[in-house]
Amino acid sequence: MKSGFLDKLIERLGRIGPEDVQNYLLQLAQEKGLIETVFNAIQEGIIVTDAKGRITYVNDAACELFGLEAEQSIGKRLDECVRGLDWKALSQSEGAISRDMEIFYPANRFLNFYIVPLLIERRTPKDGANSHAEPVGHAIILRDITESRRSTEKTIESERFNALTLLAAGVAHEIGNPLNSLHIHLQLMERKVRKLDGKVKEELQEAIAISRAEITRLDSIVTQFLQAIRPSKPVLHPENVNAIVEEAVRFVAPEIEDRDIVVEQELRSDLPLLELDRDQMKQVFYNVIKNSFEAMKRRGILRIRTNMDATHVNISFTDTGGGMSAESLSRVFEPYFTTKSSGSGLGLLIVRRIVREHGGEMAIESNEGKGLTLTIRLPYLDKRVRMLEAGTSPHN
Ligand SMILES: Nc1ncnc2c1ncn2[C@@H]1O[C@H](COP(=O)(O)OP(=O)(O)O)[C@@H](O)[C@H]1O
Ligand SMILES: [Mg+2]
Repeated sequence: MKSGFLDKLIERLGRIGPEDVQNYLLQLAQEKGLIETVFNAIQEGIIVTDAKGRITYVNDAACELFGLEAEQSIGKRLDECVRGLDWKALSQSEGAISRDMEIFYPANRFLNFYIVPLLIERRTPKDGANSHAEPVGHAIILRDITESRRSTEKTIESERFNALTLLAAGVAHEIGNPLNSLHIHLQLMERKVRKLDGKVKEELQEAIAISRAEITRLDSIVTQFLQAIRPSKPVLHPENVNAIVEEAVRFVAPEIEDRDIVVEQELRSDLPLLELDRDQMKQVFYNVIKNSFEAMKRRGILRIRTNMDATHVNISFTDTGGGMSAESLSRVFEPYFTTKSSGSGLGLLIVRRIVREHGGEMAIESNEGKGLTLTIRLPYLDKRVRMLEAGTSPHN
């Protein structure tokens, strides 16, 4: 609003005749309407509060960001309308402040709050020259920064991966070769020990067996590590997902028996063939099944279902292994995140990478204390488009 107009109005206040009032009011209403239209057209959310933190104005964008109704929010305290907002702390600053915040309702978004205290110059009636600024509230400008935030996260993720890739070459050399040599020397020792007798022979044989098992474990960690780092491009052929699931389950048959686990398979028989790398997909299923077994330890049920919708084939693995905490769930794709004493923390990372390279996606639903469902979705339509998308970013 042109401040000149208001100033003049105030100056003439004593001289305004009744016929002018209507004109001025109309003019004011028009200008207010225009400003509101402008405020509602901009993308940024705008909220104005009074000195007590009560909302006096809120534009459409702000309503949308916080799931508010403009009319119902006017007069309410801002921290009542936006739960979890520490308005007291935010409104104490004398100058403008800018703060990034995550909101969870009505959608999970990141917002930048720019908060400016509003001051009005007041002239003391007796002494016109002496004026002071009185705080009358705050203006809050909200910017949705979700997209830029997510792309930053992606960059960090891929940089982590770059660092990992560098390390990988070193690890392969440094650990792979001595492991081989240890393996050969243990074999030699074993041969010599066979010629001994009695208790010493037994003890040595046991020690050798333990060392061998540890070497095998290390070897598999190194192999997994390298698979995570140096992905080979999938070699695609039309495959039957059910057959691959069955193969992966057969592969773990000895463990099923050892752990006394029941594996129930509900495999839909009319699934379309999918363009898959059979070995890679088998590794995916194997890693997921193995995690379920390790979560259930002994006795439990793993239910594997295959199904389809209009665009995807879904493969879900539901176990009774107690699930995981929200904290673990949020970290599960971090390289090396593991809750197991001998885990590599790379299993799910490999799973996700392979699934993505097939144009698919995965979801984990954890029911803490009960169990976990991991679902893999593989597209059977638009496959090429999706593959290109997944392939453009070399590190995910
Ligand atoms: N089915 C599951 N039930 C409970 N927790 C799981 C399950 N699958 C994975 N997790 C959790 O995710 C972590 C990471 O899994 P993964 O990447 O395969 O690495 P690792 O198995 O070597 O620990 C595991 O340590 C475990 O805490
Ligand atoms: Mg694992």
